[in-house]
Amino acid sequence: MDGNGRWARERGLPREAGHLEGMKAVRETVEGAGRAGVGILTLFAFSTENWKRPAREIGALMDVLRSFAARECENLVRERVEVRVLGELDRLDAESLAAVRRIVDRTRGGDRLLLNLLISYGAREEIARAARALAREVREGLLDPAEIDVRRFARELYTRDLPDPDLLIRTSGEHRVSNFMLWQIAYAELYITPVYWPDFTRENLFAAILDYQRRERRFGRVLAG
Ligand code: IPE
Ligand code: MG
Repeated sequence: MDGNGRWARERGLPREAGHLEGMKAVRETVEGAGRAGVGILTLFAFSTENWKRPAREIGALMDVLRSFAARECENLVRERVEVRVLGELDRLDAESLAAVRRIVDRTRGGDRLLLNLLISYGAREEIARAARALAREVREGLLDPAEIDVRRFARELYTRDLPDPDLLIRTSGEHRVSNFMLWQIAYAELYITPVYWPDFTRENLFAAILDYQRRERRFGRVLAG
């Protein structure tokens, strides 16, 4: 979800207004994903690098997060959306952490759509964390280093029980992945749209999915026939 700041600047508004407006796009996207039959939707809400922004902006982003958790919770339960939160949550303030825990608890068991929110998330941090967990097991004599293969490693990631993403949608026209699920996107199809996140609609989501459906995925192989 990128482009909130530019969306606001183009309207002569403070960056915070862009973050607030971005919440509408979250609602649109969650609803649209449910309708399109998407099983898992992951939104990159706040990166480990975002902690380096001014305190005021971090505060505004956490406000948006808490207000999303409070306002959307019952809606999501009704829509059978299960929310999970992935990232270094111990860095959140107590109030935001409580809000996040509550929405995760309340929506548990939703079977229509799994909504992963990446909060205080960085892919490199996630990979380093996995390496630490494996190293600990080796030190304790529970794991033979020879057993550490791709599958075993993936089990230590936040996404341990989830398939890799099929489609990565990048808003605001940037051609970079910005520390998003670096391990998991090895074979993801990339879709880049110039639309700023606050302007992203259900139609934009459907356009991305239609584009994805026309792609030929080979995963490094040649296709027969
Ligand atoms: C995305 O919009 C929101 C977060 C990163 C949390 P930005 O705030 O990065 O918006 P731009 O890139 O300045 O337009
Ligand atoms: Mg940005």
